[in-house]
Amino acid sequence: MSDEVAHHVFPADGRSLRRVCGMFVTGVTVISTGAGDEGDGTTVNSFTSVSLDPPLVLFCIHRESRLRGELTRSGRFAVNLLARRHEQLAQVFAGRQAPAAGRVFSGRSARGVPVLGESLAYMDCDIRAEYPGGDHMIVVGEVVQLGVHRRRQEPLTFFEGSFGRLEEELRAAYARWDG
Ligand SMILES: Cc1cc2nc3c(=O)[nH]c(=O)nc-3n(C[C@H](O)[C@H](O)[C@H](O)COP(=O)(O)O)c2cc1C
Repeated sequence: MSDEVAHHVFPADGRSLRRVCGMFVTGVTVISTGAGDEGDGTTVNSFTSVSLDPPLVLFCIHRESRLRGELTRSGRFAVNLLARRHEQLAQVFAGRQAPAAGRVFSGRSARGVPVLGESLAYMDCDIRAEYPGGDHMIVVGEVVQLGVHRRRQEPLTFFEGSFGRLEEELRAAYARWDG
């Protein structure tokens, strides 16, 4: 039975797929990579956990992303989970210009991968596999080390193209739900 009463139905073109996927609330991460004094990162919300044993996570990255070369060179990356107050950082890392590594990466993991010192937590990973996923690549990493901030912080969320706090976002989007 079709459900055209409750839902508008669209063909799955890029624009509507982007819009619908944007209705899936996510956290926001910066994937960082690099070695020595070098370091770069990009804002990613396609992060997810995959397996506990072995400890695997994944993210999807555009084939043309500037980060791909460095990911391949170093074979490592860190997933930095952003806090609510890191919206500006998320915007900087979503830009096409690499921010100066020394200014944005306040730390390094024990293995030397650049990390954002004030993140909620980070996962230091070795790349285990890369799979083609259309115009993106699916990168699977094995988590070797974890860093968890000593202070509990609110997470940064992403919903319908906006950063924010879950409660605020849902209020704005579903104005009729005032409970
Ligand atoms: C909230 C948010 C989530 C994003 N998630 C992804 C993602 O999962 N994968 C991806 O390739 N790009 C993602 N992007 C876009 C990249 O951050 C952006 O295209 C990239 O930094 C642009 O620079 P580049 O093309 O030089 O790599 C996201 C952007 C934002 C704002």
